[in-house]
Amino acid sequence: MGTCGCGFTTDPDKNCNGTHRVVQAVKADIAKKLTDNGFPEAAEFVKTEKKN
Ligand code: FES
Repeated sequence: MGTCGCGFTTDPDKNCNGTHRVVQAVKADIAKKLTDNGFPEAAEFVKTEKKN
């Protein structure tokens, strides 16, 4: 735990509350679909983009 580093926490104090696991799962799913549909660069962007 501690301060959220992924940027997607739903905690009002911006502490890590496990949301990053959901975010990673969703990003991985989207990235795979993008790759499968011919958008490898978009997939890479989704995987590496960080929310500010
Ligand atoms: S690092 Fe953001 S919720 Fe865990």
